Amino acid sequence: MDRRKFLATTITAGASASLTSTAAAASNDKTIRIVGVSCSPRKGKTTATAIQVALDAAKAVDSRIKVELIDLGGLKIAGTSGGSTSAEAKQPEDDFELEVLPVLKAPRVPDAMIVGSPSYFRSMSALCKAFIERLQVFREPKLQLADMPLGALAVGAYRNGGQELVIQEIQTAMLCHEVMVVGGKPRAHQGATLWNAYKDDIMKDEFGIETAKQLGIRVAEAAIRLAEKRG
Ligand SMILES: Cc1cc2nc3c(=O)[nH]c(=O)nc-3n(C[C@H](O)[C@H](O)[C@H](O)COP(=O)(O)O)c2cc1C
Repeated sequence: MDRRKFLATTITAGASASLTSTAAAASNDKTIRIVGVSCSPRKGKTTATAIQVALDAAKAVDSRIKVELIDLGGLKIAGTSGGSTSAEAKQPEDDFELEVLPVLKAPRVPDAMIVGSPSYFRSMSALCKAFIERLQVFREPKLQLADMPLGALAVGAYRNGGQELVIQEIQTAMLCHEVMVVGGKPRAHQGATLWNAYKDDIMKDEFGIETAKQLGIRVAEAAIRLAEKRG
């Protein structure tokens, strides 16, 4: 299975641009690329499903929007090795380098991102923190994720299991990239909050699924506004 098939459980038609796209081709590309990242160690479970719901809602907003899910489930990603630059840090050659980074960069950094994590002890997962730390590489030589709309999503087994805290942690960490944090529409003002109360069948959490949709719509609208401003 090739790298992109392995990572992206859903890639919409047209989103699977060649890794070898030239910069010129990318600059003519009027598509708006929204990438969702599921940070549960369990591939294809509730966090991934909820992110896909948000992406599908985002895609329905405008025909220019292409969406892509990166499911980190099963991947081995270490946190940063430290050092103020990636070169200094000598990051490990793990799945972030080998599998995630090429997808994140191809054909260009995303126009918007939705990051989701399960609530683990009322915090983001270690995988989510490791992923965000490794985004350090996008801070050099300049902040490449600056002004990118960022939405956050969290799933917990309890109704009040720390979902909003997890969202806040993701938002706070991602602000180091100078992203533009966006919430959702009504009922999802901070982000998408889901309750895994039905044995991993997250689609049964009607309220939570609605917040995922609202988040996707809001992220899409923000990405469109920015893309139109850029021209
Ligand atoms: C170690 C661990 C800690 C957890 N802590 C919480 C918690 O604090 N609050 C909560 O609501 N759910 C907690 N959960 C449950 C998960 O958040 C929940 O099952 C979630 O749906 C898992 O996401 P996934 O289906 O994408 O793997 C915990 C699960 C594990 C394994």
